[in-house]
Amino acid sequence: MMKTTRMMMISEPMIRRGNLGDLEGIEKVENRAFGEHAYDHQALQYMLAIANSVTTVATVDGTIVAYATVYFRKNSSISHLESIAVDPDYQGTGIGKILIREVDRVSEERGCSRIVLETFEKNVSALNLYVRSGYKVKELVLNYYRTPYRGSRNAIRLEKSLD
Ligand SMILES: CC(C)(COP(=O)(O)OP(=O)(O)OC[C@H]1O[C@@H](n2cnc3c(N)ncnc32)[C@H](O)[C@@H]1OP(=O)(O)O)[C@@H](O)C(=O)NCCC(=O)NCCS
Repeated sequence: MMKTTRMMMISEPMIRRGNLGDLEGIEKVENRAFGEHAYDHQALQYMLAIANSVTTVATVDGTIVAYATVYFRKNSSISHLESIAVDPDYQGTGIGKILIREVDRVSEERGCSRIVLETFEKNVSALNLYVRSGYKVKELVLNYYRTPYRGSRNAIRLEKSLD
C-alpha cells in the first residue's frame, strides 16, 4: 500500500503499456494535472497513435492515474520525454519516479543513450522530479511555450544520459 498526499492508503500502482483505448483515462489525468495547459483530445490521440511513441500508464484499482509518453526518432539515439502527468490525488506518492524509470527502460530498450525533455522554468515539482531522477539542466529556451505558466513562457531543457 502507498500513502497519498491526503494520507489515505491506496493500492500499489500497476504499470503497463498504454494504447489508444486508454485515451479517455489519459485525457482525464491530463486535464486534472495540467488544467489550462493540458493537451487537447486531438493532440493526445496523435501522441498515442503515432508509430514512434511509447506511452506507459499507471493504474490503481483499474483506473488510470498517471501516464508518460516518450517519442523516438529514426536513426537517433536521443528519445524525447514528451509528457508526464500524475492525477493530483496521487501526486507525491512516488508514481512520477516509477514512470521516469519506465521511460529510461523503454529508451534503453530502443537503443537510446540520452533522453531530452522540456518543462516550464517555474514548474518546481517537475524540475525536482527530473533532477532527482538523474536529469541535468542543459539550457534555458526562451518563449518555448505559447501560454505562460506563473508568468513565464520559457522552458528549461534537461537531459539524462543512460550510459
Ligand atoms: C511533476 C509530476 C509528474 C511529479 O509526479 P509525482 O508522482 O507527484 O512525483 P513523485 O511522487 O514521484 O516525486 C518525485 C520527486 O518530485 C518532487 N516533487 C513531487 N511533487 C512535488 C511538489 N509538490 N513540490 C516539490 N517537489 C515535488 C520531489 O523532489 C520528489 O522526490 P522526493 O520525494 O524524493 O523528494 C506531477 O506533480 C504532475 O503530474 N504535475 C502536473 C503535470 C506536470 O507538471 N508534468 C510535467 C510537465 S513537464
